Amino acid sequence: MTLDLILRNAVLPDGRAGIDLAVRDGRFVEIAPAIAAAASREIDAAGRLVTPPFVDAHFHLDATLTLGLAGKVNETGTLAEGIRLWDELRPHISAEALRARALAYCDLAVSQGLLAIRSHVDVSDDALMGAEVLVEVKKQVAPYLDLQLVAFPQMGYFAKPTLAGNLRRALDLGVEAVGGIPHLEPTAELGRESIRALCAIAAEQGLLVDMHCDETDDPASRQVETLAYETRRLGLSGRVTGSHLCSLHSMDNFYAARLIGHMAAAGLAAVANPLANMVLQGRFDSYPKRRGMTRVPELMAAGCAVALGHDSVLDPWYPLGRADMLEVAHMAVHAGHMTSQAGMRACFAAVTETPARILGLEGYGIEVGRYADCVILQARDPVEAIRLKPVRLAVVRRGRVIAEAAPAVSRLSLPGRPETLDPAAIAAIGV
Ligand code: FE2
Repeated sequence: MTLDLILRNAVLPDGRAGIDLAVRDGRFVEIAPAIAAAASREIDAAGRLVTPPFVDAHFHLDATLTLGLAGKVNETGTLAEGIRLWDELRPHISAEALRARALAYCDLAVSQGLLAIRSHVDVSDDALMGAEVLVEVKKQVAPYLDLQLVAFPQMGYFAKPTLAGNLRRALDLGVEAVGGIPHLEPTAELGRESIRALCAIAAEQGLLVDMHCDETDDPASRQVETLAYETRRLGLSGRVTGSHLCSLHSMDNFYAARLIGHMAAAGLAAVANPLANMVLQGRFDSYPKRRGMTRVPELMAAGCAVALGHDSVLDPWYPLGRADMLEVAHMAVHAGHMTSQAGMRACFAAVTETPARILGLEGYGIEVGRYADCVILQARDPVEAIRLKPVRLAVVRRGRVIAEAAPAVSRLSLPGRPETLDPAAIAAIGV
């Protein structure tokens, strides 16, 4: 039987080279060298990296692309000003504009090979406009992008009496995970109470949890301790994520080591957001200025599932970004001192297979029987991909090419030198 697609001569993230990938009915049916079969379409990967799609474990699709709206930009660069601006901006955002921005970001994501996003959606507004729109967007993009939504009380679960009801209504609308922001509650005790209440909802309804947790430079912010405890107590292991976890950066090593042990034992996943937190944290420091990213290598070494998220693109918190998860991984390599080959490969996994596991994505990965979802990069391996943040030559979803781009090649005019340059062709000569 004719195949739908064959990708030839691929390098896979685990280092296997000269591999062909055969696709039928939206799934990989054979993965081996030199497959002798015909297909409706063949693509020569030409020794380049074919990776499972990128996955963003932490994003805010309701706020994205709002930078400069109503003339507002974050002047201090602080998290607090970002939250205040967002609260001021929300009334200016119509359902149509929110939908248009969310869809535009999803287009950009697809072009970057980013085919799954966990997005928090603010449920502070009693009309739940953001949740309603994003549930519709989720359905609309489902053929090409997996969008997982988290009900997120941005101003705090105890900020106003209607929030508990808003959160439950958002879950009824089709938002599928429970969020929270315990460090922003009025007191540390109310923060802990919010964790208990929100984890109880998740346990009762069989849902995932992902809380913004300890996104502060204050080493005394220890809400993740309670999140780990509730995860164990309620049997939610493997279903709960602590996002940001910036205070871990500033804690003393003794307490941090103990806490990381508890988190690993609880089966709590962690998401660091290096781009956003490198600029939002440390704003009250003079010099040295803290980096703000949580302890990624230490969490990984302890056995926690650690993913890297983009968090924000062109919004009140982060004025840059282009849906490029390799840019996120690149920053994590720097902020976390993860420049060993193993460290860089771990950061690549943290924007692909690890977040896929955290989100519970079905059929993810380049294996026979899984969905034929993958990306051909203009790079030869995961480390080179992080270094170059290269062109996504082809993005494949369920066996269909949904985005393509020409390779980046410069034309040179240099005496006695080659006429063209592929950036991936310049590499260390380790002999
Ligand atoms: Fe966030």
